[in-house]
Amino acid sequence: MMSRSRFGYLVWRIASRLVSWHPHYALLRGMGDVLEALGKPEVFSVAVYDARMRAVLGPFLLGRQPGPEYDEEIRELAAAMPASDIPDIEKWARQRAEQLIGDAINSGSPIDVVEGLANPLLLDFVQYYYGVPTEPEFLKQIRSCSSYIFGLDLLNGPRGHVEAVAAGRAISDRIDRAIEERKLEIADGGASRKDVMTRLIEGSLSTDRIRDTIGGTVTGTLIPTIGTFLHTLEVLLDLPRAKLESIRHAARQGNYQRIRRVAQEAARLKPFPAALFRYTTDDTCLASGKRVKAHKAVMLDTTSANRDRRAVDRPGDFEEDRPAGQRLLFGHDRHRCIGAIDGREIAQTLLQELATPLLALPNLRRVRGRPGRLGPLTLSDHLLLEFDPQ
Ligand code: HEM
Repeated sequence: MMSRSRFGYLVWRIASRLVSWHPHYALLRGMGDVLEALGKPEVFSVAVYDARMRAVLGPFLLGRQPGPEYDEEIRELAAAMPASDIPDIEKWARQRAEQLIGDAINSGSPIDVVEGLANPLLLDFVQYYYGVPTEPEFLKQIRSCSSYIFGLDLLNGPRGHVEAVAAGRAISDRIDRAIEERKLEIADGGASRKDVMTRLIEGSLSTDRIRDTIGGTVTGTLIPTIGTFLHTLEVLLDLPRAKLESIRHAARQGNYQRIRRVAQEAARLKPFPAALFRYTTDDTCLASGKRVKAHKAVMLDTTSANRDRRAVDRPGDFEEDRPAGQRLLFGHDRHRCIGAIDGREIAQTLLQELATPLLALPNLRRVRGRPGRLGPLTLSDHLLLEFDPQ
């Protein structure tokens, strides 16, 4: 019988092919083509994100073409998130995940890994690391902006646009207020901790650019980390029993490094986001011979690239020791994820800290029926898992 993961992938292939038939879209799905397009920002431009980012959260790195503004912002952001932060992030996330899982154990009910683990941990992380207060509606606002910026405009109707603009305004106002308060604290000599906000204020960017950089980075932290974590669980919980048991055992032993590798291999089989987008400024021909016309929104289908047999050995198999070069989870070249590059692996650290204590719960399994599965929309509101009493 076909595995659930394979079935999901085939549905995705059909959906992405349907999108590519739209006259405004083109599709690249081979690993070589996708990497080549990501490496040519002059032809495969990020303008497709830029226009929408400016409408909601303001201009941001991922929408910027090569140039001095991009260079200054990436330098400032990298300096505000030094690799030396990783041990503190790991310690913080471990404590918070253990608290949340402890709450679930004490409640005696199944754990909702969305509302009871991923969302609260990531929202608290945004406060802890970026210095942005996250009231209850914050995640809803970020989701609205993110689906408008990164979603298909075929699906983003006028309502999506209007809601995203309002949400973007609310988020930007909140960050502005937080920056003003922080500046006062610094002036009083009282800024207690050096988080990303304090470091950016101490750098060279104007207040507007600090706000926009924080808004974009917070979005880039929250949505993909939550989405990747949930996709990872979907894949792991469908693995053959013996394989899953060996992973659970590693989690119970506190083998965080193995769970980190496992999470990335699971994410390869169901990456989040499922595709990246670019906009062609010119007619172009790729090394593979594939031609793409100018003025297309190009869907870079990373879900398919991650299963391309020409680049990935036994692409449908779960192989946690696979070389890193056989997966594409965090982009490539100029716009590669700044939170996941060597030495500053914030994303991988958060994934490992979320997954390890969860997988260590005795006999962790889905609850029966729909609540035990993610819905067709990737950022579901709930995913319920049960476990045996400790
Ligand atoms: C599992 C979690 C994450 C995943 C899967 C992920 C994925 C990605 C991908 C695929 C890109 C490139 C997008 C493109 O080229 O169209 C990207 C860019 C980016 N990511 Fe992440 N990301 C994650 C977590 C994070 C975290 C934790 C941070 C911040 C600490 C972050 C900050 C950024 C930024 C700032 C960019 C834009 C970089 C640029 O334009 O130069 N991401 N991410």
